[in-house]
Amino acid sequence: MEEEAIHMPSAGGSRGRALGQEAVSRPVDLDQVSAHEGERLQTGIAELDRVLGGGVVPGSLILLAGEPGIGKSTLALQVAGRLGQQERPALYVSGEESAAQIRLRASRLECVSPRIRVLADPDLPTVLGAIERDRPRLVVVDSMQTIFDPALPGSPGGTTQVKEAAVQLLFLANQTGIPVLINGHVTKEKTVAGPKALEHTVDVVLYLEGERDGAHRLLRSHKNRFGPSDELGIFEMGDHGLLELSPADASRAFIDEATQGVPGNVLTITCEGSRPLAVEVQALVARTRFGLPRRVSSGFDLGRLHLLIAVLEKRCGLDFSEQDVYLNVAGGIKLTEPSGDLAVALAMAGSLRDLSVPADCFAIGEVGLGGEVRRVRRLEERAREATALGLVMAIGASDLRDRPGLHVTPVRTVAEALEGQHSLLVPGGTIQGALPAVSLPPPHVAAPSGSGRGRGSRRRSA
Ligand code: TYD
Ligand code: MG
Repeated sequence: MEEEAIHMPSAGGSRGRALGQEAVSRPVDLDQVSAHEGERLQTGIAELDRVLGGGVVPGSLILLAGEPGIGKSTLALQVAGRLGQQERPALYVSGEESAAQIRLRASRLECVSPRIRVLADPDLPTVLGAIERDRPRLVVVDSMQTIFDPALPGSPGGTTQVKEAAVQLLFLANQTGIPVLINGHVTKEKTVAGPKALEHTVDVVLYLEGERDGAHRLLRSHKNRFGPSDELGIFEMGDHGLLELSPADASRAFIDEATQGVPGNVLTITCEGSRPLAVEVQALVARTRFGLPRRVSSGFDLGRLHLLIAVLEKRCGLDFSEQDVYLNVAGGIKLTEPSGDLAVALAMAGSLRDLSVPADCFAIGEVGLGGEVRRVRRLEERAREATALGLVMAIGASDLRDRPGLHVTPVRTVAEALEGQHSLLVPGGTIQGALPAVSLPPPHVAAPSGSGRGRGSRRRSA
């Protein structure tokens, strides 16, 4: 429970300004309205510009959300470094870190210069004053949960504070044409912390995702008033901040040749925004030891997983009632698009029966409650991506067609994909290149240390 005091704006005060209105507003003919959005600011980080729909729109309010430690501050500082100019620096407001800490990060990112000005004070009136006075080229507010107006009730990060700060920043951004990038934390449920109204207020919501221990980061546009939503950018966290991946590296980022063709592992080509992307679905179905079977999912909606299990039981005669199901989408990617259903179903069925889909095959199709495999959009782009990756076989929706280098098995139902002449499932293989089991030294024998490379190599082998 959180107390929310109602903040009454003074008459004709912020609210009137809020909507950017004159004292008296009149309706105007739509064709008389100027639709010039102003020139977008290019950050030069191509993946980011693309996700934004072609750059930062002047006067827009952008929310960059993500888990702690995922790289929000890093990306925000990189953007400030790219957009700040000698004559018009960017303003980096931090309520989380001291100016010295920001400077340290900036040296790591190699963007220490007078083109970025730092304000390590989360006091909202101070921030608004600095923006109005200095007219920076871009404002970064890191983070929304620390910004605080002492004149308002509630604690930092609380509903009233976050809402009011967002509204005030929006007014100022609209009025001055200065774009504002705000960092926001996400909750355990992976939604932006604070009031839902925050997402409604801002113009653009970007999510930065990935596995914290892994190198890859995904930048996803969830809402975008100035461009396509659900667009995806792929980055790698390196020693000098976030680097964008080349299209060729991005294609291979989430698949691993060594684990393909193993029971329970199935490739699919998902389509995030305009970008087709190969991802590996991994299922492990194991006998339940204690009472209720467990269903654990990472990167795939748990409700949808339950649904697909029900379809496999009811329409294909498989029995999961005494089986635990663990599902993972490799590389920390989230499979949100229904076209991944068939791959998930085949992965679970394959793991249950110890059958595998060949390594150079991918599955694609949405699965309906009747077990039917539905069509998916953007088939052409996906097929092209698959062939570029060297995949030569596909199983899936009936509108999938053979094309040079790609042999297609169209199926109408999941059952057809599992049984009979159309099935591609074959007795299982093992992980290619896996070493034979070796006896490990007892745990107290320390591995040779001091090479300084331990961490990186462990990560790679994981
Ligand atoms: P940070 O941007 O502070 O995350 P957030 O603001 O979302 O909480 O990123 C912190 C992590 O990124 C930290 O674990 C260190 C790592 N990192 C790098 O690997 N390389 C770098 O160049 C930088 C600046 C950070
Ligand atoms: Mg941070």
